[in-house]
Amino acid sequence: MSKGLHTKRIITDNEGFKKVVDIESSRKIGLPNGFVIARDLKQIQPGNFFEIKGKRYYVLSCDLYEYVMSKLKRRTQIIYPKDIGYILIKLDISPGKRIGEAGTGSGALTIFFSRAVGKEGRVYTYEKRKDFIELIQRNLAGGREFENVVLYNRAVEEGIHEKELDAFFLDLKEPWEVLDIVAEALKPDGYLGVLVPTTNQISQTLKTLENLNFLISEVVEIMIREYKLNADRFRPNDIMVGHTGYLIFARKLEG
Ligand SMILES: C[S@@+](CC[C@H](N)C(=O)[O-])C[C@H]1O[C@@H](n2cnc3c(N)ncnc32)[C@H](O)[C@@H]1O
Repeated sequence: MSKGLHTKRIITDNEGFKKVVDIESSRKIGLPNGFVIARDLKQIQPGNFFEIKGKRYYVLSCDLYEYVMSKLKRRTQIIYPKDIGYILIKLDISPGKRIGEAGTGSGALTIFFSRAVGKEGRVYTYEKRKDFIELIQRNLAGGREFENVVLYNRAVEEGIHEKELDAFFLDLKEPWEVLDIVAEALKPDGYLGVLVPTTNQISQTLKTLENLNFLISEVVEIMIREYKLNADRFRPNDIMVGHTGYLIFARKLEG
């Protein structure tokens, strides 16, 4: 299978069927009324369609959102796009920045960091589980646009190699245990983000941040309400994602 987002396509019948496929693969792709060979889709310009037994299927280029939600293999809970968008803003991620992260998990947040810091930026990501590394590498290769990610198979307690990082994001069970190490890797004024799923984890994180003299800027939970795409009976979906995690944001102060 080829690498990168540009070899991925979305197939949709615009009636509820949607699939992300790799056009470098020779796989048979099952459709509601037949199949297509993935690599044959190379002939179709994104935005155009093909027909099977009179039924129309549109081919679209695959964006990073669709890749992460439909194609990324998960061994862990991932950070969802609703949270990722806000994290990128609150950590002031932009081209050229140097960002740290732990743990890498399935690499969902890592891929968005990689895109946001661009060619000149770097993402240094720490994952302690050796058995996750191969999957993370595959996930990153499938969606990454820049060769700007350094992946360490290392627990963050063992030390962070980098110094003077612009920002760091923590998504692991006991973030308060490693905040002093993260503080050392951040530049003064640097941004910190933490995701924790439960409120008791917030309390412990806040206390440690206060002791380490961080400026705590926000604790927030982001809700998203999706709607049924029916113009005549427009109303919210019956089921919504009730909770993913709480986000804590802070800045490193000197001294
Ligand atoms: C919830 S997952 C992270 C998901 C990731 N943010 C994503 O969007 O795909 C948490 C990961 O942190 C890793 N982890 C836990 N403690 C760690 C530590 N001390 N150092 C490095 N990685 C750690 C776990 O093995 C797990 O893969």
